[in-house]
Amino acid sequence: MVKLAKNKFYVTTPIYYVNDVPHLGHAYTTIAADILARWNRSQGKSVFFLTGTDEHGLKIQRAAEQAGKKPKEFVDDLSKKWKNVFSKLNISYDSWTRTTDKEHEKAVQEFIQTVAKKKDIKEGKYKGNYCVDCEHYLTDDDIIDGKCKIHKKPVEFLEEDTYFFKMSKYAGKLAELYAQNPGLIQPKGKLQEIRGRILREGLQDLSITRTTFDWGVPFPLDKKHVTYVWFDALTNYISALGWPKGEKFKEFWPADLHLIGKDILWFHTAMWHSMLLSAGIELPKEVYAHGWWTVEGEKMSKSLGNVIDPVKMVDRYGADSLRYYLFREIPFGEDGNFSEKVLVQRHNTELANDLGNLVSRTLTLIEKFAGGKVPKPRSEKSEDVDFIATLDDDVRHISEHVEKLEFHHALGKIWEFIKAVNKYIDSEKPWELANTKDEHLHTVLYNCTEALRIISALIWPFMPETAEKIAKQLGLKEVPKLENLRWEL
Ligand code: MSP
Repeated sequence: MVKLAKNKFYVTTPIYYVNDVPHLGHAYTTIAADILARWNRSQGKSVFFLTGTDEHGLKIQRAAEQAGKKPKEFVDDLSKKWKNVFSKLNISYDSWTRTTDKEHEKAVQEFIQTVAKKKDIKEGKYKGNYCVDCEHYLTDDDIIDGKCKIHKKPVEFLEEDTYFFKMSKYAGKLAELYAQNPGLIQPKGKLQEIRGRILREGLQDLSITRTTFDWGVPFPLDKKHVTYVWFDALTNYISALGWPKGEKFKEFWPADLHLIGKDILWFHTAMWHSMLLSAGIELPKEVYAHGWWTVEGEKMSKSLGNVIDPVKMVDRYGADSLRYYLFREIPFGEDGNFSEKVLVQRHNTELANDLGNLVSRTLTLIEKFAGGKVPKPRSEKSEDVDFIATLDDDVRHISEHVEKLEFHHALGKIWEFIKAVNKYIDSEKPWELANTKDEHLHTVLYNCTEALRIISALIWPFMPETAEKIAKQLGLKEVPKLENLRWEL
C-alpha cells in the first residue's frame, strides 16, 4: 500500500545542460527551489525536490568533441561539477536526474510507446532553422538577421527524416484548459501570453527525432533515430518518480511547482502539457517562469560570454549573502541587473549590521546581566505586548509572501521585524534597567531571545548556515520548525 502524502510538496528545477559549468542564472532557479523545499519541510510537509542535468543532444555532443572527450566521459565529469557547485550553495535536493541514467532512458522509451499507442506519432520530413543553443527549430519571430534572438548566434538550416509528435491536436484543449485554470501558468500575464500564441498560431506538430547525430535516447519505434532532447528532458519530471508504476509517482505526482526561467516557458507549457495530455497523465499544478539576471541589460548566458560565477561569489561573501542578495534585490518574476557592489552593501548593512548586531547584542546582554541564562519574563508592560503582537502578524504575512513566491517581500518583512527588535532594545535600554535593578530587564532579555529564535526559523530556508549558527548560539539543538512556531514555546 502506498501512503499518500496529503501534505506533500513536489518542486522541480529545469535540468541543466552540461555543456559547461553553472553560472549565476542557473544558481538562481535552483536556490529558489531550495528555499521553497526548505520552507515546506519546515512546515512539516513531505517534500520531494528534484534537480539535475540534461546530458543529451547536439550541443553536448559538440562540446564533448571540442573538449576531445567521449560524450559519456564528458557528461560524467560535468554532472559531478554541477553537483559540487550546488553543494557549495547548500542546495538540499532529494533527487538528482541525469538523462543518461538507464532508468530515465527506459522511461522515455516507454513514454514514446504510450504516445504512439494514442496514434500521436507520425513519420515525415522536417526542414527549418535550428538553434543549437536552444536545441530547437525556430520560427521567423525567433530570428533576427539570421541569428537566434536569445543566443545571438547564426541559426543552422537542417533538413532530415523525422518522426513527429502530433502536437497540433492539442491546441484547442490547451487553450480551453488555460482559460479554466488560470493558476497553471504564473506569474500573472504569462498564461495569457501562451494562450494568445496558441490561439493566434495554433500548435505545429513537433519533430521529435534526429538522424544526423546519435547522442540521445534511441527512438524505440525506429533505431536509426535518436529522441529529440526536449522530449527526453521533460520526461525527467516523471521518470525521477519511477513513472509509470513507481511509488513515488503515486505519492508526489502531479508536481506542485515547476520552477523555470522565462526562456523555456513554451517548452514547459505548450509542449509538456500536450505530451502529458497525450499520455493521459495529470498536468502539474503550476509552472512559474521567473525573470533573468542581466549584465548591462543583456541576459547573462554562456553564449553571450557575460556570466557571473556563483562559486567566486560564495568564496568572497559566503553562500548566505549571495542567497540573500539574489532574493532580496529583485522581484522573482522580473529581470534584474547583477551588481556586486549592491551585494556588498546589503551584506554590510542588512546582514552584518541589522542581523549580526542583533545577535551579538542579545547574547552579550544575556551574558553580562543574566549570567548566560535566559531569564524568565517578569513585569510585562504595554510595550512588550505591542512588540509580541507585531511579530504574530509579521509571521503570517511572511508565509503568504513565500507562498506567492514574493521572496523579496518575505525578506523585507523579516528585516522589518529584525529592525523592530533592535529598536525595542534601544528604547527599553536593558543596560539602564540593570543599573536600577528593574525587574523589567528579565522580560526584555527574554523577549529578545525569543525573537531571535523565531528569526532563525524564518530565515533558515533563505540562509540555512546563518540560521543554524544563531540557533546554536542560543543553545538550541536545531533550528525551530515553522510548523510549531509560537511565541514562548
Ligand atoms: N536543459 C534545458 C532545460 C530542460 S528542463 C526539462 C535548459 N537548460 S539550461 O542549462 O539552458 O538552463 C536554463 C535555465 O537556467 C533557465 O530556464 C533558467 O532557469 C536558468 N537561467 C539561465 N540563464 C539565466 C539568467 N540569466 N537568469 C536567470 N535564470 C537563468 O534550458
